[in-house]
Amino acid sequence: MAHFYFALTNPEADGLLKEEVKNFYPELKLSYSRPGFLTFKANHPVFWKPLFARVAGVSHGKVREDEIKVQRAWLYKREASYLPPKALQDLSDKTIFKIGETVTLVMMIGEDEYWIGEYPLSPTHFQTPGEVSSILEVAAPSRAYYKIAEAFEAFDLPFDHQERVLELGSAPGGASQFLLEQDMQVLGVDPAQMDEKILKHINFKHLRKPFEHLEQGDFSKDVDWIVSDINLPPTIILKEIDRLLKFLEPRGLVLTLKMNDPKHLELLSETVANFKKKGFRKVELKYLPSHRQEIALIALRS
Ligand SMILES: C[S@@+](CC[C@H](N)C(=O)[O-])C[C@H]1O[C@@H](n2cnc3c(N)ncnc32)[C@H](O)[C@@H]1O
Repeated sequence: MAHFYFALTNPEADGLLKEEVKNFYPELKLSYSRPGFLTFKANHPVFWKPLFARVAGVSHGKVREDEIKVQRAWLYKREASYLPPKALQDLSDKTIFKIGETVTLVMMIGEDEYWIGEYPLSPTHFQTPGEVSSILEVAAPSRAYYKIAEAFEAFDLPFDHQERVLELGSAPGGASQFLLEQDMQVLGVDPAQMDEKILKHINFKHLRKPFEHLEQGDFSKDVDWIVSDINLPPTIILKEIDRLLKFLEPRGLVLTLKMNDPKHLELLSETVANFKKKGFRKVELKYLPSHRQEIALIALRS
């Protein structure tokens, strides 16, 4: 008997998801795809929890609009411009799914193309249909604002007033803006220019140099968090974080790892294990709604 699975991702990560399936789910064969929507087929049930998907679950296949008979469901539209039937949109708007429940998801993949799937709503999922971002649009120097805001929301990060954040790759300052809004003190490290508004903030300090040049003497006090979003391969980022952890003892890390090369996929599980060995009790990876070819790694000591 054939078993079908679906994944919703961002189109930029379609290739990464396919590569992940090839390497880690060899029993799955690609069955159908549109940008950001992929289905796979297997001959036996598979534990399907890919990293490079916003949500992923069991696919119940393609249906005609008049065949959609669901009592509770969320509706996801692949393009914001699609116009679904009003009754379906109303049903989605009034349906609430709680953490731990199985979401029934009607996926509008084209103007007149519907698919039905189910996925378990986990504690780090956004409670929005198909996990579209729940962060409201703001004027920020970069989209990194949304990446850190989404990580904060998904993992319920315990950021506290006046905690000290070492932010690696801080320019132009989207993530700094979010951290400053949380009333944190930010030490931004980046050879590039910061946004003027961020530079002027009383709780922001800029070290204008590459993070490879950071030394113990740059820190008068320890830091509470290390946040990184540097556009370099994860191998370099992780090596430097390792070096920094020899003289800094943050209680948490929020790292954006760029996955421009699928060969870095193999690194991920080993990296999670390494951070656990270093005393971080909770280490998780998550593909966030605003991600492209990247993934967030969160490590918390408690
Ligand atoms: C994706 S952007 C960061 C966005 C930023 N976090 C924000 O919130 O606006 C990547 C940044 O990494 C910086 N970068 C690249 N190599 C670096 C290095 N060796 N040390 C520090 N920053 C570096 C770049 O200058 C660039 O500003």
